[in-house]
Amino acid sequence: MFHVKHMGAILINTTCDFLIVGSGIAGLSFALRAAQLGTVTVITKKNEIDSATNLAQGGIAAVMSANDSKQNHTLDTIVSGAGLCNEEVVRLVVDKGPERVRDLIDMGVEFVKNSQDSSELDLGREGGHSKRRVAHAHDFTGKEIERTLLEKVKANGSIKVLENHRAIDLLLINRKIENENKSTKRCAGAYVLNENGDVEVYMAKITTLCTGGTGKVYLYTTNPDIATGDGLAMAFRAGAIMANLEFVQFHPTCLYHQKAKNFLISEAVRGEGGILVDQNGRPFMEKYDSRKDLATRDAVARAIDREMKERGADCVFLDITHKDKEYVKERFPTIYKRCMDYGIDITRELIPVVPAAHYMCGGVETDIWGRTSIDGLLALGETACTGLHGANRLASNSLLEAVVFAERAYQYCTNQWKTISHEQFPEVESWKVGDAQALSEEILIHHNWDLIRRIMWNYVGIVRNIKRLELARKHINAIFQEIEQHYKDYFVTQNMIELRNIALVSLLIIESALNRKESRGLHYLVDYPESREDLAKNTRCRKKTGEWPAEVEFL
Ligand code: SIN
Repeated sequence: MFHVKHMGAILINTTCDFLIVGSGIAGLSFALRAAQLGTVTVITKKNEIDSATNLAQGGIAAVMSANDSKQNHTLDTIVSGAGLCNEEVVRLVVDKGPERVRDLIDMGVEFVKNSQDSSELDLGREGGHSKRRVAHAHDFTGKEIERTLLEKVKANGSIKVLENHRAIDLLLINRKIENENKSTKRCAGAYVLNENGDVEVYMAKITTLCTGGTGKVYLYTTNPDIATGDGLAMAFRAGAIMANLEFVQFHPTCLYHQKAKNFLISEAVRGEGGILVDQNGRPFMEKYDSRKDLATRDAVARAIDREMKERGADCVFLDITHKDKEYVKERFPTIYKRCMDYGIDITRELIPVVPAAHYMCGGVETDIWGRTSIDGLLALGETACTGLHGANRLASNSLLEAVVFAERAYQYCTNQWKTISHEQFPEVESWKVGDAQALSEEILIHHNWDLIRRIMWNYVGIVRNIKRLELARKHINAIFQEIEQHYKDYFVTQNMIELRNIALVSLLIIESALNRKESRGLHYLVDYPESREDLAKNTRCRKKTGEWPAEVEFL
């Protein structure tokens, strides 16, 4: 390790075998496996527990009962994905699912057992699933998984977890191709802002992006504050291929209450009999879909959007009052307690709900080993677009994808370890601060942050049209230019990094949405309401070289 004083900022070069950015289920699962090969550094923005995984209520879908089959799970995933799932990936994930769930159990995750037969799991049901197949820990499954993984990570001497560290950008180096007069770009780590506001250089043989999703791009989201699309933005700036960014999943039921910031009412509530009703208590889903309240999320969120717009209502309601009171309290302890805190007794009263941005189905494109188009760079979990989710993720398939691909990425690293472990670290450019100064007015950040999220909510939401998308592009492009200027003029801060990332990710969502001239899955475009056979392919894009930082090239 060496230190270089540079315009007041200390640059520390730290090397490790694996640099993992993000500490949700994907990052921690991969860390535990990678630690069998070498040294691992996990950098995480807030404290380690602050991840989307931690908020996941529903559970992890896998074929764990004799009443189900891998064929069923494959088919449900493909139907939900509306023509864009990669079938090879779906089969792979479904096939490995039960093994990976058993790994979690072996590590100590306490899924709820079947009350009749304790050798079996109690399997929940959610929208789009034809069978009960969601392993859960009541309604705090993500928390239970995160707790278990963190305990293991902390006990592992090869893994270092650094809290309050934020990756700014990836570190790219040129690598000569053997026996050829050419070189290729390779990822060799990242520039990281530490808790003291200094920029450090972390060099690694393998860098893995596990930064979660992009929910904070929207005004209303079920996501934690960390979900600012950092991995997507960094990968795009580095030149990686991105896929399907127009497919933003809106969860149909986020609690609607002035004081509740981002509280999810799990789809499992509908899985156990909850019914969506209007303000007069009338069920409405049968008007929209024969699967009613357990239709796939795209269909349910659109139906709610329509109901609210038609009636000028602020929300719709979820009714679980017909179920046994003690059962509801036992099955949904977190939801029961939180709603009680807001004065809503869900065993007696309707729950006010609205759709909110929940999951990014697109991401950094990867192959079946979690490799991105940049050498040395992997992406896992919500940051990645593996091909599993297609145009609409099937509920509870994401925790599954994260654990299956963490294992795949580990297999790839194991197979290639001889080559990877011999990789030499080159000299790297130090972080340049030039004439930058300290930002004295945080309002410059907050104002733009708020504007972007409102524009995205109003113009790039559940139901889209070309006119609004073009308006969004125009406004956010202008904001993006201003932010890029701030980024040059001022010392980099946590808020600046996130603002720069949400602005870029917003533009990429808009460009991808404008590029898809049809409606499919989560992307509903009023101007083109039908799906088109000839457009049933992924939206793939990357940064145009040498152009304006957000100039997109579709492939
Ligand atoms: C939920 O519990 O409704 C969320 C589960 C998921 O998004 O997969």
